[in-house]
Amino acid sequence: MSTHAVPDGPFPGDLGAPEYERLRRRVLWRLPAGLYILGSRAGQRRNLMTLNWAMQVSLEPKQVAVSVEHSAVTHGLIVEGGCFSVALVAREDRAVVRKFVKPAEHDVEVHTLAGIAYRDGVSGAPIPELAIGYLDCGLRYSLDVGSHSLFVGEVLDAGFAIGGENVPVLRMEDTRMSYGG
Ligand SMILES: Cc1cc2nc3c(=O)[nH]c(=O)nc-3n(C[C@H](O)[C@H](O)[C@H](O)COP(=O)(O)O)c2cc1C
Repeated sequence: MSTHAVPDGPFPGDLGAPEYERLRRRVLWRLPAGLYILGSRAGQRRNLMTLNWAMQVSLEPKQVAVSVEHSAVTHGLIVEGGCFSVALVAREDRAVVRKFVKPAEHDVEVHTLAGIAYRDGVSGAPIPELAIGYLDCGLRYSLDVGSHSLFVGEVLDAGFAIGGENVPVLRMEDTRMSYGG
């Protein structure tokens, strides 16, 4: 198997390498995805981060995986704290994800991150109060996959906000944002 990120070709339709890279990115962007807020904590340090690479990965036990950049503050918190939460966001709250593309300022007194109220889940990870549903996880596996680490967590607690099950869930396609590719 090649270890090159950019293969040598030949590429489909006689494309050059730059055109092929653009095509590959566009296909990757078309993978259907949700858009979530990932909570992490180590000691008294907490963070919330915008994330679209999340999925269920096993039935028994119930486990979900998230893929997090090595350079993210969240990465260090998950490794150190051994827990994370995945919050489902209402489609109409799409603007909130913009708050969590950089480390969130923590107000310990009033329990807010970037001005958004949170509570601590059973794992210890923060869960934003605006979540319409959440998965609260204990870290079980970490796999270095290159730019990112894949963290697999067992679901320790899950729930909906009142009425949350009937609220449309935010997905990547509801925004003009893209990630990865
Ligand atoms: C739409 C969108 C989706 C994102 N998805 C991910 C993701 O799945 N994994 C990831 O590591 N970063 C993702 N990011 C980037 C992080 O939100 C961003 O790098 C953040 O600053 C890192 O978090 P932290 O340093 O506060 O922990 C995404 C950003 C946007 C705008």
